[in-house]
Amino acid sequence: MMLIQNLIRKKRDNQQLTSAEIQWFIQELCDNGVEPAQTGAFLMASWINGLSEREKIDLTNSMMNSGTVLKWDLNGPIVDKHSTGGVGDTVSLILAPLLASLDCFVPMISGKGLGHTGGTLDKLSSIPGYEVEQSETSFQKIVSEVGCAIVGQTSDLVPADKILYSTRDVTSTVDSVDLITASIISKKLASGIKNLILDVKVGRGALMTNIRQAKKLAKSLVSVSNASNCKTKALITSMDDPLSSSIGNSLEVETVVEILLGKNKNDQALLDTTIALSIELYSMVFSEKSHMEIKQKIYSLLDSGHVAERFEKMVSALGGPKHFLSTYKEVLPRAESVVPIKAKKEGFITQINTKALGNILIKMGGGRQKASDKIDLSVGFTKVVKSGKKVNTKTSLLFLHGADKFFTPSLEEEISSCFSISDREPKRSKDLILQKVS
Ligand code: URA
Repeated sequence: MMLIQNLIRKKRDNQQLTSAEIQWFIQELCDNGVEPAQTGAFLMASWINGLSEREKIDLTNSMMNSGTVLKWDLNGPIVDKHSTGGVGDTVSLILAPLLASLDCFVPMISGKGLGHTGGTLDKLSSIPGYEVEQSETSFQKIVSEVGCAIVGQTSDLVPADKILYSTRDVTSTVDSVDLITASIISKKLASGIKNLILDVKVGRGALMTNIRQAKKLAKSLVSVSNASNCKTKALITSMDDPLSSSIGNSLEVETVVEILLGKNKNDQALLDTTIALSIELYSMVFSEKSHMEIKQKIYSLLDSGHVAERFEKMVSALGGPKHFLSTYKEVLPRAESVVPIKAKKEGFITQINTKALGNILIKMGGGRQKASDKIDLSVGFTKVVKSGKKVNTKTSLLFLHGADKFFTPSLEEEISSCFSISDREPKRSKDLILQKVS
């Protein structure tokens, strides 16, 4: 007979658990047969001793099977993207309608903000009427009719992750590559996708701050996902500067709409990252097409407004305004005031403390300090300068959007100190796409 304490002892003593033991543990966990202290002990033993490749695959698949696994009957490839999170990262909002315009189906299940990183669901919630919570039936219907839908996780998708994640949060066991792998991949597999591109972010605004850690995570995610019948590749991409010139929920949505409408030509980093991820994902399905051919097709779909239209269709199908592309300026929530924050001296921006900017947004109410917090969707920053730019005391580092009560000298000081300015011009900025893991 299996006993939870024996499984914990095995893992504590650095022995491998069998597939049957892992399956049983996850089943017991979801049937309330595991005490919270035992869950914590199991996680800590796994954090300390790590999981073998086989154990990771077993844990991922057992977690996937702990709830509903979506099945799709669609006339085209089913694809998705997952990002490990960053600041000003609105890739999903462009990539989903773009891949749908390329005749793929994109059932994207996204999350809320985590730590200093923003969440796609919070951004979309700033669109009046957009309903991120959908039943399985309506999610299936919208994906089959529109080609893409970005929604939140339903309660019956991977219930094991909900229990494990909340225990990890309070037992210092979040930062384990093995546990992160099982958590992310089990949810992606449960959404029934067959092709996945991972955007593993590295840098000052990312959860992984060095390339070694990012590579380890990317390799782990790619190998477990491929072993579980989902074709997967990863790009390791830079998150030193905020990816978009806007940070904050409704402000990021506005920027995306303007990029899609061709009105914003300044957000090249966001567009380049989105296109690189889209090309990798598309070529996983249509390997006979060259990257150049795919890139040309993508630009023609963007330039002709097809991607913008698909985005508008998705917004409307999910309960948002029918004509969002022409009404976004009126309907998106707006902050009381907008003020520029000027550079304190002349020189070159050598570095941006992107994580600190993300944390200031949270303090202004644009993100959560506690899971139950209601967020202010209108606050944030626009026209954030890029590193390498030459500035003087008349140049705005960014425009701050918020209620008047926020505009204090100490906040201005805090924002200014996120930008390092030096007389010496910095060396060429780092590439956006750092490595591919396949
Ligand atoms: N995101 C997840 O979904 N799970 C983790 O463990 C970390 C990030």
